[in-house]
Amino acid sequence: MTNTGMQNLLLGVTGGISAYKSVELARLLVVSGARVRVVMTEAATRFVTPLTFQAVTGNPVRCNLFDEEHEAAMGHIELARWADQMLIAPATANFLARMAHGLADDLLSTLCLACSVPVSVAPAMNLHMWQHAAVQQNLSILASRGVNILGPTSGEQACGDSGPGRMLEPVDIMAALGSLSNRGMFAGKQVLITAGSTQETIDPVRFVGNRSSGKMGFALAGAFVREGAEVVLVSGPVVLSTPPGVRRIDVQTALQMHRAVFDNISNVDIFAACAAVADYRPEQPEEQKIKKTSERLVLGMVKNPDILAEVAALEDGPYTLGFAAETENLAENARAKLLAKKLDMLAANPVGDNLGFECDDNSLLVIWPGGEKQLPVQNKRKLAQSLLGVLGQQYQVHVGHTKGS
Ligand code: PMT
Repeated sequence: MTNTGMQNLLLGVTGGISAYKSVELARLLVVSGARVRVVMTEAATRFVTPLTFQAVTGNPVRCNLFDEEHEAAMGHIELARWADQMLIAPATANFLARMAHGLADDLLSTLCLACSVPVSVAPAMNLHMWQHAAVQQNLSILASRGVNILGPTSGEQACGDSGPGRMLEPVDIMAALGSLSNRGMFAGKQVLITAGSTQETIDPVRFVGNRSSGKMGFALAGAFVREGAEVVLVSGPVVLSTPPGVRRIDVQTALQMHRAVFDNISNVDIFAACAAVADYRPEQPEEQKIKKTSERLVLGMVKNPDILAEVAALEDGPYTLGFAAETENLAENARAKLLAKKLDMLAANPVGDNLGFECDDNSLLVIWPGGEKQLPVQNKRKLAQSLLGVLGQQYQVHVGHTKGS
C-alpha cells in the first residue's frame, strides 16, 4: 500500500456517480495511515450516504455550512486548520467551476478558500463536458494556482460514452498522492521543464511551427513528480493531459515561453529544456490575413532568444538538461551543443524511423562533460524514467562538487 506520507487529509466528495469509488479511496487512505475527514456536497449525498464514509473513516461527515452544532465554534475554520492536505474526488465540472471562480456557497467550496494547504482534485465527468472549453479554462486557472489535477483517465463512462473524463481509480489516486509527498530521487527539488513546439505567428491564421507533440516533455514531467520533485511545465500548444501533480503554464510562441521560464526560474534546481523552440520568428506578423496575390512570398525572420543558453549562463543557475533532435551526426552535433550552450547534460535523439517527434517511442544518447550513456528505444514514459536514473547520478555528483567548491 502506498504511504502518502500525509497525516490529516480532508476528502471532499462532490455529486458524481464516481462518488461510490471515493468510499474505497477513503478506505485506502485510512489503511495508508492518514486521518481522513470527509466533507460532502449536497449533491454527493444523493449518490452515497454520509454514514458510509463515517463507517469507513471513523469520523463524522460534514455536509452543511450552516450546521448549528459545529458552526457555533466556527467548525469550518477548525476543519481548515486541521487539514494538512485537501483532496476533492470526484470533482465535478460544476464544482471545478465554483473553485476556479472562488465561490463559497456551501461548506466544501468555503473550505477551498479557507484552507491554505496543498489541494488536489480528481475530475470526473462525461467526455464532452471534459472537452468543453469552459471546463478546460477552469482547470487551467486551478493549475496556475498550484492545484494538482489528478487525471482523469479514459474509458467506458456511466452514461455509455467512451473517452476521457473517468475519475482515476482509487489506487491510482493513491499513487499520485504518494508521488506528491516528499519522497523519491528528486524529493523537494524544484524542476522547470519546457515541452512541445512553439508557434510563431505569420498572420492571424498562420504560423511557423514544428512537429513536437510534447509527449517526451510531459513524460519527463510525470517522471520527475513520481520521484518527488515539484514540477512546473511550460508547454507549447499540445493535446495532452497534464500529468498529476504538475503545474502547467501554456504558451504559444518562443517569446512567451522565454517569459514564462524567466518568471519561474528563481529557486529552480533543475531546468530541462525538452521543447522544440522555433529558432526564428516572422519579423513582422501581419495584422490581416495575407492574400495570395503574388507568385512568391518572402518571409523576413528574426532569431528567437535561446532560452536554454540564457538559463545555462545564469550565475548560480540551475542544473541544465538540454535536448537535441538530430537527423545526422547525432553524437557529434550533440557534443557541440553541450559545449556551445555550456550545459550540464544533453539528451540527443535521432529523428526518423518512428523515433523523436510525435511518436510514442524514442531513444536517447545522454552526454555530459566526461561521460555518456545510450538509452535504447522504448516508450517515452519508460525512457523518461531511465533518463532520470542517469540524471539522478550526475546531479548528485554536481551537487557534491558545488558543495565542495
Ligand atoms: O515532443 P515530442 O513529439 O515527444 O518530441 C520530443 C522532441 C524530439 C521534440 C524532444 O525529445 C527534443 O529533442 N527536443 C529538442 C528539439 C531540438 O532539436 O532542439 P534544438 O536543437 O533546436 O535546441 C537544443 C536545445 O536548446 C533544446 O533543449 C531546446 O529546448 C533549447 N532551445 C532551442 C532554441 C531556443 N530558442 N531556445 C531553447 O531553449
